[in-house]
Amino acid sequence: MNKENKEKQKSEKMSKNDSQKIMVDPWGNSLIEDYSRLIREFGMQEFDLSIMPNPNAQMRRGVIFGGQDLKIIAEAIKTKKKFYCLTGIMPSAEKIHLGTESIIQQVKYYQDNGAETYVLIADVEAQATRGISLTEGKRRALNFYIPAYIALGLDPKKTKFYFQSENKKVSNLAAICSQKITENEFRAIYGSVHPSKVMSAFTQMGDILHPQLKNTMPGIIPIGIDQAPHIRMSRDIARRLKNEYGFFLPSASYNKYTSSLDGSFKMSKNEQTGKIEIPEKDRKELEKKLKKTLTGGRATMNEQKQKGGEVEKCVAYEYCKNHFIKEDKILKQMRDECVSGKNLCGECKQKYLIKHAFEFYDEFDKKFENAKKIVGKIKFEE
Ligand code: TRP
Repeated sequence: MNKENKEKQKSEKMSKNDSQKIMVDPWGNSLIEDYSRLIREFGMQEFDLSIMPNPNAQMRRGVIFGGQDLKIIAEAIKTKKKFYCLTGIMPSAEKIHLGTESIIQQVKYYQDNGAETYVLIADVEAQATRGISLTEGKRRALNFYIPAYIALGLDPKKTKFYFQSENKKVSNLAAICSQKITENEFRAIYGSVHPSKVMSAFTQMGDILHPQLKNTMPGIIPIGIDQAPHIRMSRDIARRLKNEYGFFLPSASYNKYTSSLDGSFKMSKNEQTGKIEIPEKDRKELEKKLKKTLTGGRATMNEQKQKGGEVEKCVAYEYCKNHFIKEDKILKQMRDECVSGKNLCGECKQKYLIKHAFEFYDEFDKKFENAKKIVGKIKFEE
């Protein structure tokens, strides 16, 4: 853990104290401890499961904890009106981590429910904030990100993929958006006016709003809450451009962070340790990592047999709930056997975590190989 991370983690811990402000930094990596406070302070809405038609597993299981204007999206689904779903990712590594999988499941849900779907490669942002060249970003996207997204469930025929650097509508709209915010407003939202952040944030505004240039319509942006500042600014800007462009304010749904193996951090693309990635080619290594996950085990075997495990603290359970176990019935069984003291943590990991993780990765590997064959046929938006 480097010094900066330690500082950040400390400030998150302090955020329990109501006099401290919670920091949400799109380019940082601390865990959030109090989601309901976040909802209050950021003017978000709690995710209301009852309004969503056929909610997916992650919605039902509370991985999606909040949002913005989700009613209008639920209505569009129910009444079969036009709406769009858009998300993006920086090609900042050769792999993705589990947290990203949750976002793709959300996009898949909206796509299956009629959304015009956009997935962008944030190569301009990766260049500006991480120094990754556009050529390298493109290579990674074609070799890995795009086939991985297809393998995770997106329908390539129904998804409009594009690169930020190649989409003129996006960069032109970014320039228009940059006129609608003052320096002080930008600083209040992002905590900084660093030029590379300004560059990336306005490009992201172009991303989020550009599907409405052709047709104004509601849009849903599924993201990790670290991206909440972008939603805030895009809504302010959409409001200010309403007269000229008729934009709907973008809606959003927020995922909880995925914990690192030891439960202390948000899993992050930048951290070298403590993360489970996609893919995990070496199953032995994967098994070793999974065995290290923090559990809610008690101090002694006897205590655990008597009181049962503390399932809410268990990262192994979190991974199964959020990613690896699709069937509610099996997840419930895992939970019951934990809290009743039937299984000790080692047994439980073998029976549930490792077994279902292996199934997940076997399926991914197979679908990824197929998806790679069709990447060459994709026509990117320009
Ligand atoms: N900033 C996002 C990231 O860090 C990527 C991104 C760019 C994005 N444009 C977007 C996400 C629009 C959602 C919507 O990976």
